[in-house]
Amino acid sequence: MKDQLTALRLAAAARIEEAADTASLDAVRIAYLGKKGGLTAILKQMGRLPAQERPVIGQLGNEVKVAIEALLHARGEELKADETAKRLAGETLDITMPGKERVLGHKHPLSIVLDEVKEIFLGMGFSVASGPEVENEYYNFTALNIPEGHTARDDQDTFYTTDGLVLRSATSPAQVRYMEQHKPPIRVLVPGRVYRQDTPDATHSPLFHQIEGLVVDEGITMGHLKSTLDLMLKGLYGESTRTRLRPHYFPFTEPSAEVDVSCFRCGGVGCPFCKGEGWVELLGAGMVHPNVLRAGGVDPEKYSGFAFGVGLDRLTLIRFQIDDIRLLFENDMRFLGQF
Ligand code: PHE
Repeated sequence: MKDQLTALRLAAAARIEEAADTASLDAVRIAYLGKKGGLTAILKQMGRLPAQERPVIGQLGNEVKVAIEALLHARGEELKADETAKRLAGETLDITMPGKERVLGHKHPLSIVLDEVKEIFLGMGFSVASGPEVENEYYNFTALNIPEGHTARDDQDTFYTTDGLVLRSATSPAQVRYMEQHKPPIRVLVPGRVYRQDTPDATHSPLFHQIEGLVVDEGITMGHLKSTLDLMLKGLYGESTRTRLRPHYFPFTEPSAEVDVSCFRCGGVGCPFCKGEGWVELLGAGMVHPNVLRAGGVDPEKYSGFAFGVGLDRLTLIRFQIDDIRLLFENDMRFLGQF
């Protein structure tokens, strides 16, 4: 048994030396010192030895065990140090390497201008609300004083879905929805997407954006409308900007007006951009029709109001001197990156 123990010790020492990583070192430990390992197997035979030899072999067995443990420990430390060194080498950070460039996103030009408009109106005490993009015919037409058979209801202009629903053709339906939910005084701005059957070209898109404005209170006049729009347009295009109202017709306002702004290119003297007019047409507006007030549950004998609807896309094209509305929707980074 002495020879067996000596041989086991030598074999274990050799395998410990060979172990290339801590996992295989662990396997060596189990093979020699484990419950079913080589050393246990040898010592199990001790019972067959004469009584006086047992303590000698027992002690030798113990020495072998301690010696193997010491070798395991030493090799274990070596391997651990190696593995740490390797890992650290792998994690080395070369701070002189050029970094990865991260492209910072920013607001879309439509959002830039919408935020400017909101800022101007929040300063005048307006709230900002929204309405559904899929509208029913009542809010999109009837409540806005657009009778059955009116050309505005024509499916040449409006996208109809199957069952009396439309993609709203303006943000104006939100006027009535808002009046139904809020009592005067009302000062609200409703921005959002609107839809019309237009073939896309430089100035048309089947999807575009409007900002509806609605003010309802006692004693509201056209003067309030004009000064409010004046403030908005000066805020957007500069203090020297002038505003002009021209008579127009909308079923939901009376009187109605189209609003022009002095040409921001030539300052109003006339240039190719404004086709020599000095003015650029910008939005529709007017005094809310009594029928529309009634539809919203507001008494037209007591209250009056003004409303306007301005194309956000057009405001944006003018603001940044962009000449094609389609650029706003194509998501071409070469274009968007400029803002
Ligand atoms: N809804 C009109 C349009 O889309 C704009 C408008 C809004 C006019 C409110 C008057 C009052 O052209």
